[in-house]
Order: sequence, then structure tokens, then C-alpha cells
Amino acid sequence: MTTFYAMPGNEHLATVLAGRLGGSVATLALHRFPDRESVVRLEPPSRAADAVLVCTMDDPDPKLVPLLFAARTLREEGARSVGLVAPYLAYMRQDRRFMPGESVSSRHFAAILSEHFDWLVTVDPHLHRYRSLDDIYSIQTAVAHSAPAIAQWIVASVPKPVIIGPDEESRQWAQEVATLVDAPCMVMAKQRLGDRDVSISTADMTEWRDRTPVLIDDIVSTGATLAAQLAHLRESGLPPAICVGVHGLFADDAVARLERAGASYIVTTTTIPGAFAGIDISESIAASIRTMDGGEQRTSNDAHTSKWTA
Ligand code: R5P
Repeated sequence: MTTFYAMPGNEHLATVLAGRLGGSVATLALHRFPDRESVVRLEPPSRAADAVLVCTMDDPDPKLVPLLFAARTLREEGARSVGLVAPYLAYMRQDRRFMPGESVSSRHFAAILSEHFDWLVTVDPHLHRYRSLDDIYSIQTAVAHSAPAIAQWIVASVPKPVIIGPDEESRQWAQEVATLVDAPCMVMAKQRLGDRDVSISTADMTEWRDRTPVLIDDIVSTGATLAAQLAHLRESGLPPAICVGVHGLFADDAVARLERAGASYIVTTTTIPGAFAGIDISESIAASIRTMDGGEQRTSNDAHTSKWTA
């Protein structure tokens, strides 16, 4: 028996996943005291149930402590296993000590989650200097891919697209989407100048003037990356571009910035709920959960054998 618990704001996805996988949804409430401490109150799992917490990790710091409280409470209440579905996985961009004495937060975050959960499912994490989540997570992990859903959306919504990735890291998903929609693909080079400032290499794009540009980035944070790209496309005489993000963080005035830069449409997947989350990726998440062990102790002989129990 699998029971899904939604951290606040994740109720819709928890219900959809339980429906797709034949599990149930139990209640979880978070109360914040006047002093900003918090308490989690949840419906105890039925005996030996596999519990799944659903919590996307944008704005991660205030979410982390209640999430860990919930995981520990579920174990105390007898859950056979505790898995985590985090459609957006925070801290993956801090994958190096950029300055002496700086924390490599991706490693620390991974160590904390690995200590509290049996497995993790996420969507297209920002893998730049790491080859896979196994480089930093010591628990079983699976990555759900957004490219098929993004491609489906483009086929249904955009006539004659050209797919553009803003930097080398975006090649992995930009190229995959372009292949799926049978469109040309260009990948630019980006240099980050500061938290809110980037420069993008210029390239001759005149041959794509009769196509609709679709910019694809994994994370839309301040919008600086996509805005720089939009400016270049405008100067090249291309039609107004569509901006597609896998994860829409929309920090600061990102939306206004993209609109000012000439975005004709902004859309993201549903990893982070919000006004622009129009590409549903629950099917891919559900498929990844199916590959997770159902909580029995894995031995070196049976590792990665699916024991999913609905
Ligand atoms: C970074 O390498 C990522 O792939 C994104 O391009 C980046 O996080 C976007 O951030 P922003 O929207 O602030 O430019």
C-alpha cells in the first residue's frame, strides 16, 4: 500500500500521482507558530505502508525543515519506506567551490536528503559538473524527463519552430526536443557576469527568419539568460520568440523582464505550480516512481529490482 503526502502547495500533484499509481492520499498539515517554528501533523500511514512525500523544492530553505520533520514522523509512525518526489531539485547549480571557503551546497543538500529518504524522484535536475545524481546522492534516484511533454506541446502549439538553447548545458534537452519535433536546433554560448547578468554569444540567425523561435532553458530564475537571447533574436530580425522553461522559478521581476525583452509567450512544465505551468509532466514522474523500490531492504544482489506496490 502506498500513501502520498503533499507538503503545502503540492496537493494537486500528490492527488494526480496517487490516481496514476493506484495509491492513496493522506492528510498533512503544517502549522507555523508566531515565532516561525513549525510543526507537521500528518495522518499516520497504515501498518507497513510505503510513504511518498511530494514537495517541489523551489524556495528550498523554509521548506526543508518541515519536510525533514515529516519524513522523520512518517518513520516513527511505522512507514515501511519514505520516498521523496521533488519535481524541482534545489541547489544543483552550486556544484563547485567558486570562492575559497564557500559551501558546495549541492553536496550538502544531497547528503541531508539522502539521510532522510529511501529514494528520490525528480525532473531534469541541473546536471552540469555532475554526470548523474549518483555522484552526490547515496539513495536510489530516478530522473523524469520533460522533453517528450515539451515536444508534444510545441507540436500542438507552434507552427514551424526553430529550437534554441542559450548555453552548452541546455544542449541536452534542446537537442532532444528538436529531434522529437523534427525542427532545427541552435545552441549558443553563455557567459555569466553576475547573479542577474549574462552575455550570450552572437550567431548568424538570418536563415531562421521564417520560423518561430522557441527558446528552451532548464531553469528560468531571474530571466537574464532568456532575456539576453531574446534581444539577440530581435536584432537578427526573427519573429517574437516563445520561452519554454523546464522549471519556472521566476525570481525578482523575471516575467516583466522577459516580456520587456519581447517574449511572445512564456510556458513551463508543472514542476513548480504557477501561472505559467502549462506543460503537464505527471505521467513521466509516475513512470519514474514505478521504478523505485517499495522500501524493502535492498541487498547488493537485488539492487534496483522494482518492488513497487500500489
Ligand atoms: C544555468 O546554467 C541554467 O541552465 C540557467 O540558464 C540559469 O539558471 C538561468 O538563470 P537566469 O534566469 O537567472 O538567467
